[in-house]
Amino acid sequence: MSENLTLPAQQGSTSTSTEPLLEVKGLTKHFPIYGGFPIKRRVGAVQAVDGVDLSVGVGESLGLVGESGCGKSTTGRLITRLLEPTAGQITYAGQDITRAKRKQLAPVRSEIQMIFQDPYSSLNPRQTVGSIIKAPMEVNGITPAGGRENRVRELLELVGLNPEHYNRFPHEFSGGQRQRIGVARALALNPKLIVADEPVSALDVSIQAQVVNLLQKVQDELGIAFVFIAHDLAIVRHFSQRVAVMYLGKVVEVGDRDSIYNRPRHPYTHALLSAVPEVQVDDDTEQRERIRLAGDVPSPIHPPSGCRFRTRCWKAQDKCATEEPPLVQISGNRSGHLTACHFPEEPTTEARAEDVVMDPALKALEEAQDQH
Ligand SMILES: Nc1ncnc2c1ncn2[C@@H]1O[C@H](COP(=O)(O)OP(=O)(O)OP(=O)(O)O)[C@@H](O)[C@H]1O
Ligand code: SF4
Ligand SMILES: [Mg+2]
Repeated sequence: MSENLTLPAQQGSTSTSTEPLLEVKGLTKHFPIYGGFPIKRRVGAVQAVDGVDLSVGVGESLGLVGESGCGKSTTGRLITRLLEPTAGQITYAGQDITRAKRKQLAPVRSEIQMIFQDPYSSLNPRQTVGSIIKAPMEVNGITPAGGRENRVRELLELVGLNPEHYNRFPHEFSGGQRQRIGVARALALNPKLIVADEPVSALDVSIQAQVVNLLQKVQDELGIAFVFIAHDLAIVRHFSQRVAVMYLGKVVEVGDRDSIYNRPRHPYTHALLSAVPEVQVDDDTEQRERIRLAGDVPSPIHPPSGCRFRTRCWKAQDKCATEEPPLVQISGNRSGHLTACHFPEEPTTEARAEDVVMDPALKALEEAQDQH
């Protein structure tokens, strides 16, 4: 992959906001598993999220990446309080909201919104677009200056839809347009934080770029912070100033975009960034290591002891099975770049743009930008 496909740096690309809007500590979600007959009892738990620490600054975008099943969506749902955490603490704007009850949570709920992966199933097919976007205002008893309908039309315009389509139904829109409706609904209450869970994964490649650009505009112009969940590292690289890499319910590495993409230390991050599906180190040349992750992600019901990545890690040693590596700033890392590994990779000083998994979505994104 050539260097010139690397996207231009964004505003404030490597800076970490000093003012945390959201702080998550030790966040844990274990889904109980019940079995037995005739009396069902708890026989185990899916350790979907297990002690996650994260923070998101005001107006910042934090990317959350990792393979399927690593707990990204569960983390997003815990943050938005759609799920009750098993343990841990969620602090929003200095307020502990971990166990906040419905009434206490109401003002926060309007400030934290979610955009879902599937724009069709997340929109009620029997409601008009106007009613869908208006609903959060009605539920929260908010009437903006100029009235709710006016606000809906403004929002439709903001997300690139025709305000005259107020009375249309979701099925009358394309996938990309439906996701725009989802964005408009999320914006209805002027949120400060949006958790976007794979917001473009279900869309056609050409449409993905348009929706990512819309979200970028929203972040830049309205100063909204994002937790941007995606398995597509190229899109996260484009959209997020900081990136957290999850593996089997834990954050294994987090840092500013440049550190994660150009100086990754955790073997798993290296593997995610490696494009070619083979382990191969060419001794004669300076060719970069290409990594193929062997096997599947282990079950979150019985995760490996010590480091959860050890069953797939080419650097694993005895210590990895007995001691869980803490997520800390290891020697050689920049401030704020944390890695959970006993035997980390050397920081790569050269640009690794060619190692980043680039895909057609990114190409379309670049083309869309070039046209502007
Ligand atoms: N309600 C639930 N009950 C039991 N297990 C669940 C529940 N929701 C999620 N899980 C399990 O928790 C783990 C994490 O799931 P989650 O959906 O958070 O992963 P993800 O990283 O979002 O994956 P994907 O990329 O496929 O969306 C998975 O093993 C999943 O099967
Ligand atoms: S702690 Fe050990 S097993 Fe885990 S990533 Fe580091 S080297 Fe690999
Ligand atoms: Mg998910």
